[in-house]
Amino acid sequence: MIVRHLVLLGAFAVGLGSCQQPEVKISAATDQPHVAAASDIEVGRYLVLVSGCNDCHTAGYAVGDGRTPEADWLKGAAEGFYGPWGTSYPQNLRRTVAGMSEDDWVEMLNTRAGLPPMPWPSVRAMAETDKRALYRYIKSLPFDGDPAPAALPPGQVPTTAWVDMTPKGPGA
Ligand code: HEC
Repeated sequence: MIVRHLVLLGAFAVGLGSCQQPEVKISAATDQPHVAAASDIEVGRYLVLVSGCNDCHTAGYAVGDGRTPEADWLKGAAEGFYGPWGTSYPQNLRRTVAGMSEDDWVEMLNTRAGLPPMPWPSVRAMAETDKRALYRYIKSLPFDGDPAPAALPPGQVPTTAWVDMTPKGPGA
């Protein structure tokens, strides 16, 4: 009896597999929201969380395994990334959005070719709705924190803490 049930179950599963394939839609449309959430702000929060913005723009986030409280997210970091491009600092994004309109933010993410290791190509590839959701989330955070230091030209040794991203070793 048990065996018969199992066989029946197996046949049912095969039947499902052959004629009832779940419909999977993969769309590259950039005018549709890619994440469903209660509000644009929630979408933006989710995008910040999964696309790694905190790794650089929140001091201590990556090394602390993401335990930094949200109250401290995206306030920038005073530790520079030193490489062939000079030294770049992840800005305080709360200040960035305070100083620009949503349309200017979208324009900046679309067009800016800034310094590494900021993933400019990745944010550029985001759908416009996602770019707007990012802005709305960051704008919903209280204005707080100091500005990050200004970028330095190649070769200038920073006076802040810095991470050396200069390629080294064989083949560098
Ligand atoms: C690997 C580190 C890193 C990650 C991850 C990262 N950033 Fe950045 N970000 C930087 C650095 C460094 C700069 C400064 C780059 C420059 O001067 O061009 C920067 C600059 C920016 C700026 C310009 C701010 C201003 O005031 O000029 C924006 C906006 C920004 N990042 C948004 C984001 C968003 C949104 C995410 C997540 C999707 C993100 N960043 C992820 C490192 C990072």
